[in-house]
Amino acid sequence: MLGIILLGPPGAGKGTQAKKIAAQFSIPQISTGDMLREAVKQGTEMGRQAKSFMDQGGLVPDEVVIGIVKDRLQAPDCAKGFILDGFPRTIPQAEALDRVTKELNKEIRVVLSLEVDEKELMERLCGRRTCTGCGAMYHVKFNPPKAAGKCDKCGTALIQRDDDKEETIRTRLVNYKKMTEPLLRYYQGSGKIRSVRATGDIDAIYAGIAKILQ
Ligand code: AP5
Ligand code: MG
Ligand code: ZN
Repeated sequence: MLGIILLGPPGAGKGTQAKKIAAQFSIPQISTGDMLREAVKQGTEMGRQAKSFMDQGGLVPDEVVIGIVKDRLQAPDCAKGFILDGFPRTIPQAEALDRVTKELNKEIRVVLSLEVDEKELMERLCGRRTCTGCGAMYHVKFNPPKAAGKCDKCGTALIQRDDDKEETIRTRLVNYKKMTEPLLRYYQGSGKIRSVRATGDIDAIYAGIAKILQ
């Protein structure tokens, strides 16, 4: 059972690296952010509630995201493993995950902590572009698409995320420090945490991650 947690601040590259792990190890990426954005797009009641928190750079209430993850982990494609991207994000979420994995007979093998200097995060998030068709991620400067504004993989138009505005990014970073960073200490005792310097070439960072996972 290859259960992986990707920890790291907004813009650390959790989504970028999760997609590579998912492709190589044939396990699903479980991004609570992506699932919440999908609910917003579908206009569900949960999405409507989540949107107000997300637009302000705040966290969606624990019980909502815990419920989403618990359901998702029971899907058949999680039988061999899974990559949690953006969950847990608070101590109560981490405690809930401990309970849920036990209950579902699953195991977290490794917690990868992606480390990037704070000043780089802002630049990464301001320049991020996302494909609405296939979810691929780009950066106008660090990882540009071949044709401006268009996805290399599927040709769909690229968009900027609603919460990638300077003001909102600042709040997200503050909330990360306050609510999520304490998880590093939470997992320190488990012996499962591995730090990954996540600056520089995307493929080189991934090579380091793949080595840890093998
Ligand atoms: P979420 O979608 O999880 O956003 P986040 O944590 O802020 O992280 P990002 O997705 O912005 O960054 P990333 O680490 O995935 O980086 P990426 O690979 O895209 O959450 C959004 C919101 O949903 C939250 O604010 C909250 O409201 C809610 N939410 C979600 N989960 C929740 C939870 N568990 N509890 C409560 N609320 C929750 O990379 C960023 C950019 O950098 C890209 O442009 C990329 O191309 C570029 N890049 C990547 N790697 C490199 C590199 N090595 N060098 C240069 N550029 C790079
Ligand atoms: Mg992401
Ligand atoms: Zn695409």
